[in-house]
Amino acid sequence: MKTIVCVDSNWGIGSNNDLLYHIPADMKYFKEKTMGNVVVMGMATVLSLPGAKPLPGRTTVALSDDPDWAPEGVIVCRSIDEMLEKLKEFDTDSVYICGGASVYAQMIDFCDTAYITKVYACDKDAEKFFPDMDKKPGWYIAEESDYMEYNDLVFRFLTYKKDENITADN
Ligand SMILES: NC(=O)c1ccc[n+]([C@@H]2O[C@H](COP(=O)([O-])OP(=O)(O)OC[C@H]3O[C@@H](n4cnc5c(N)ncnc54)[C@H](OP(=O)(O)O)[C@@H]3O)[C@@H](O)[C@H]2O)c1
Repeated sequence: MKTIVCVDSNWGIGSNNDLLYHIPADMKYFKEKTMGNVVVMGMATVLSLPGAKPLPGRTTVALSDDPDWAPEGVIVCRSIDEMLEKLKEFDTDSVYICGGASVYAQMIDFCDTAYITKVYACDKDAEKFFPDMDKKPGWYIAEESDYMEYNDLVFRFLTYKKDENITADN
């Protein structure tokens, strides 16, 4: 399983149920990675999508406790266990954990790859965060793109991988 996220320098990812940054190259990167695949999201993130509709060309699996929430085109699971069972129906390499903060926190330990768009800025309004991957034992940066710039924001794409042989004691 993989995860994909855009973070600021403090691992901030959102505020007011919206993204911190809307960088076209990041949106394109997200689309390229997830197109044709399975995207896993919490209810708040689904509601934050344009028109609160699932993204076209992808299978959306969403988490919610609300028994009445059943949007068209979304497979809703009521617990992590129910979702893990449902995800067995798909090739694990095709599954992308796409947020928000609560879902990232619960699912990061099931992932082996994290596609991180790192924006070298701090948004003081950030209220939702991704786990600090530089402090997570067993994770390392396997690939990094060149630095890019958009509207005075410097960013790049980092691929973190999990090495099961590295532990907190190493
Ligand atoms: N920067 C990025 O790349 C990125 C990507 C995605 C999202 N975001 C941002 O992240 C923020 C949203 O994150 P969030 O943590 O507030 O919301 P979220 O994770 O998208 O959704 C939270 C909701 O998911 C449901 N849920 C989560 N865990 C569950 C479980 N174990 N069992 C059943 N239901 C569960 C609950 O819905 P019910 O209340 O219905 O039970 C919960 O209220 C927004 O600001 C969004 O823009 C950023």
